[in-house]
Amino acid sequence: MKVIIVKNYHELSKAAADIIIEAVKLNPKLNLGLATGGTTLGLYGYLVKDHKINNTSYKDIKAFNLDEYVGLPKNHEYTYYRFMHDNFFNHVNFKEDNVYIPDGHSLNLKEKALEFEQLIIDNPIDLQLLGLGVNGHIGFNEPGTSFESKTDIVSLTKETIKVNSRFFPGHEELVPNKAVSMGISSILRAKKILLLASGEKKAQAIRDFIEGPITTDLPVSCLKTHPDVTVILDEEAAQLLSK
Ligand code: F6R
Repeated sequence: MKVIIVKNYHELSKAAADIIIEAVKLNPKLNLGLATGGTTLGLYGYLVKDHKINNTSYKDIKAFNLDEYVGLPKNHEYTYYRFMHDNFFNHVNFKEDNVYIPDGHSLNLKEKALEFEQLIIDNPIDLQLLGLGVNGHIGFNEPGTSFESKTDIVSLTKETIKVNSRFFPGHEELVPNKAVSMGISSILRAKKILLLASGEKKAQAIRDFIEGPITTDLPVSCLKTHPDVTVILDEEAAQLLSK
């Protein structure tokens, strides 16, 4: 596992963008696994800027998102579908047919989750971007999730619901308590994984991950079993590391 510590959020976003841009240029048909959340906003900003200045093309790139809330219509302002379109897809040349986000608003959620799992088996992810929950979750795989888990309907912990309510300003009661998420085993199939963590709120989970044991109590610790993981931290997220 490669751990890169940079000064601040801007440097983290730029370093992550450089890795993704390089991968996209190297393989114009890359299968890119994507994440949402505050950590990724700066990165998507850099990717959009780079697309406008350098014409980096996403024409034949396929995007597979980690997760989606259950119960909100696809185009609702708080879905991850909207987050991704508003912050990234609509500003670069992705083909809508190449964008895959788990379906959180179907009558057959379970069936759709199984279809998504098959989709990412058939289209192996080359590079998977991950953010990190304060409680160590990746995707919406909360503490206690089996490392064998696959794309499925999952329950969010009270803590995650509270943390994510910041994205529902004035509508905190709308934060769903369920989501559809790639499982841990789905994530671990990716050829390369890029994990980002920024800010002091992530410092404890980062220390437990980097210096602690592999345990389902800390879902991110599963990454220690993967052969190609890069972790980018800013100084605040790295502040509890012993060296
Ligand atoms: C989002 C996701 C989550 C977030 C994590 C961190 O698609 O899967 O695991 O990456 O909750 O969120 P932020 O970046 O908002 O702290």
